[in-house]
Amino acid sequence: MKVIVLENAFEISKQAADIIIRQINNKHGSVLGFATGASPVETYKRIVESYERGEVSLKHITTFNLDEYADIDRENVNSYYYFMKDNLFGKTDVNFDKVNFLSGVKHEEAEAECERYYNKIKEAGGIDIQLLGIGVNGHIGFNEPGDEFMDRPFLVELTQSTIDANSKYFEAVGAKMPHYALTMGIGDIMRAKKIVLIATGASKAKAIKALVEGEVTPECPASILQLHSDVTIFLDKESAALLGNS
Ligand code: PGA
Repeated sequence: MKVIVLENAFEISKQAADIIIRQINNKHGSVLGFATGASPVETYKRIVESYERGEVSLKHITTFNLDEYADIDRENVNSYYYFMKDNLFGKTDVNFDKVNFLSGVKHEEAEAECERYYNKIKEAGGIDIQLLGIGVNGHIGFNEPGDEFMDRPFLVELTQSTIDANSKYFEAVGAKMPHYALTMGIGDIMRAKKIVLIATGASKAKAIKALVEGEVTPECPASILQLHSDVTIFLDKESAALLGNS
């Protein structure tokens, strides 16, 4: 794993966006795995700025997002589809026919939806770069700490830690946060050819230490990334603060 500690989120976003833009420009029809949450927002801004300067076009890429809440409509302001439209897709020339999401279906449809998504990634030839954040509990996508690493997309019951971290977005619009989500599995993430993870802030320091220096265990799902051959981790000083201290 390449661990790069930078001054702040802006510096991180420039380097992370650069990797993604180079991928898009070097391979026609690149397949990008995108993430939501606060961590990638600045990176998406840098990509939009590059697009506006005419340095990159997203027209031919295929995209797969990591996860989506269950029981939520895609036009809901808190859906991850809405987030991506708002932060990246709607501000560029991305072809929405090539944008793929796990849809926020009801529980009874989740299994078929997960199977569809797994096959869709396979048909696309796999993901060239998967962008990731990390939860304060070490989750990637919505792979929450647990007893096993899941291989394929699945329906997950969110942990209290995740509900505590994300319910502010729902409360802001007077809504209740769903307690279930559909997510790519760890296997889907690990099959990406390259992985770029971004973390900032002191709240991520423990999870980052477990990811980089801890044992590989489903209790810290992100720790599996130690076994991937091409991972770049961008940190600010706060999220990197515990590295190197035993
Ligand atoms: P955040 O979320 O970027 O909003 O901190 C990351 C995550 O939960 O994976």
